[in-house]
Amino acid sequence: MGDACKSKVCNPPAPEASPVVKEKLAELVLDNDKLKKYIEIFTDNINRGLKKSTNPTSIVKCFPTYVQDLPNGTEEGKFLALDLGGTNFRVLLVELHGDQCEMKSKIFAIPQSIMTGSGEQLFDHIAECLATFCKEEGLEGEVLPLGFTFSFPLVQKGLTVGVLERWTKGFKCSGVVGNDVVQLLEQAISRRGDTKIDVCAILNDTTGTLMSCAWKNHDCAIGLIIGTGSNSCYVEKQANAELFDEPDMGSGEVLVNTEWGAFGDDGALDFCRTDYDKEIDKNSINPGYQVHEKMISGMYMGELVRLVIVKLIEDGVLFGGKGSDLINERDRFYTKYVSEIESDAPGSFENARQICEELGLKHAVDQDYVNLRYCCEVVSRRSAHLVSAGLVTLLHKMGKPVVTVGIDGSVYRFHPTVHDVMMEKMTELCDPSIKFNLMLSEDGSGRGAALVAAVAARKKDNSAPAPAAAPPSAEEAPAEG
Ligand code: BGC
Repeated sequence: MGDACKSKVCNPPAPEASPVVKEKLAELVLDNDKLKKYIEIFTDNINRGLKKSTNPTSIVKCFPTYVQDLPNGTEEGKFLALDLGGTNFRVLLVELHGDQCEMKSKIFAIPQSIMTGSGEQLFDHIAECLATFCKEEGLEGEVLPLGFTFSFPLVQKGLTVGVLERWTKGFKCSGVVGNDVVQLLEQAISRRGDTKIDVCAILNDTTGTLMSCAWKNHDCAIGLIIGTGSNSCYVEKQANAELFDEPDMGSGEVLVNTEWGAFGDDGALDFCRTDYDKEIDKNSINPGYQVHEKMISGMYMGELVRLVIVKLIEDGVLFGGKGSDLINERDRFYTKYVSEIESDAPGSFENARQICEELGLKHAVDQDYVNLRYCCEVVSRRSAHLVSAGLVTLLHKMGKPVVTVGIDGSVYRFHPTVHDVMMEKMTELCDPSIKFNLMLSEDGSGRGAALVAAVAARKKDNSAPAPAAAPPSAEEAPAEG
């Protein structure tokens, strides 16, 4: 036994992918020079998005969200929240009391026909789900304040006005781009006539994530999603967010929704794109758009790995050059497989074997499982590295000494190593005088929506003239005891 093994248990070294596979996938590995180049270009894109004169031609839009204040933990009240933006639609009832939060929610599926149908159908469906929920919860008589988490690029013109710039993530409903989605929701609700709501805020899921995390952690200044889609928001000085056109309510800051998914739509990321990325884009519902998102997020990760596998099979270096009907089927290699395969203990192929069997690749041998895992690793690591470079750009831009990043989304939640890979890469890339921390944010889309509505209500109350003092009524008078 070698010296190193005497004091601790020695695991056998993890089996290595074949050199030929590694060589063929080298283009999917981003070294620090490439990531530094990314940071330089992305910084320029953010600055262009923020400035009034360059925003119209900027690819990264940096939309001001009109959220000027973070929660302070004293928010109170009962709120409805709607959450549209991923594979499901949710309605929530959220009750905030001090540092406690109670939530009830119901998930409704959005059928494919609605995702690509008319806007009217989509909003009628949302209104129907809301009415069903309110009935089930016995809320019919109440007019509750509502926060609407709508996770698509919105040009906000206030906290309750959001004009859709473009659809992303497989949605393409007609008649919505260019319109205020709050109005479309209100119209659909009044078409039914059985529910009453008071929309207090429309927000992006990144905003909800940041708010939800900031509720407990006052250093939180970035919200990040790595789920079906990918995006970030961060705390910017109002003076820098030139599109922000409301009076300062005191903080001097405003949350900016970067919409970083669009980064690269003008070719800025061509220096690190591959043919696999181009193929994903070509087959998508929105070719030419959301280039950065397509290299990162869960909607595309499994398909990217599938394209890599198919190429290696064609080249005769995986599965003995023999594929299957299923592996040739578009979107058949699910993103959850990537997490599952990378969750196998080193040297064990339990999940990999089962997935290969499911995909008709029963002829796989052990080295194929090792190579398959490597295919997953290069794609998920590249995603984590791009996100890390994006976050470091924002950390440098803000210049705050300590920042917590609130994060949500299925890839971050379920992938076994994305968090660690990000910590490692960000530490390498970030100015060492900035301390950062990555924190899973609990249910930003629900609780975050309620918090945005609650903070807005608090601000409104604080800015209203103080009511004339009146003697307390018998009921309100504090009990003496
Ligand atoms: C949307 C963003 C959203 C992100 C994560 C992207 O496709 O454009 O608004 O925040 O997905 O859900």
